[in-house]
Amino acid sequence: MAFIDWDKSLSVNVKEIDEQHKNLIGMINDLHTAMSKGKSKEIMGDLLIKMIEYADYHFKTEEELMEKFSYMGLFDHKREHIKFVERVINFNEKYKEGNIFLSVELLNFLKEWLKGHIMGTDKKYSEFFNNNGVY
Ligand SMILES: [Fe+2]
Ligand SMILES: [Fe+2]
Repeated sequence: MAFIDWDKSLSVNVKEIDEQHKNLIGMINDLHTAMSKGKSKEIMGDLLIKMIEYADYHFKTEEELMEKFSYMGLFDHKREHIKFVERVINFNEKYKEGNIFLSVELLNFLKEWLKGHIMGTDKKYSEFFNNNGVY
């Protein structure tokens, strides 16, 4: 069983965004799998870079849609995205300094943040996007 299973409770009812969320969850599951095999050190560096890049790409997708339809919650939503990227960059810095206890902390942060953000913040735009013809 995967560390995080994507199910309907995580759907924001917009296909492209659901697919991106699944990819992010896949990356977190990969970290979990590597950790359970004692191989987190090997993948951590690449994973952190990939996470920063893919999160940036994903956040841009959401933000561009919000901008396009003048979504009221754009500003606060964007602030959460920025904070996330700052946190992951900070993890990457600690990783480069050789912090070996990072993987558990990172894994838990990614899981809690992503689930919390999708369910608490992303889902707020579902109805708005759907009403604007975005599914
Ligand atoms: Fe999202
Ligand atoms: Fe978001």
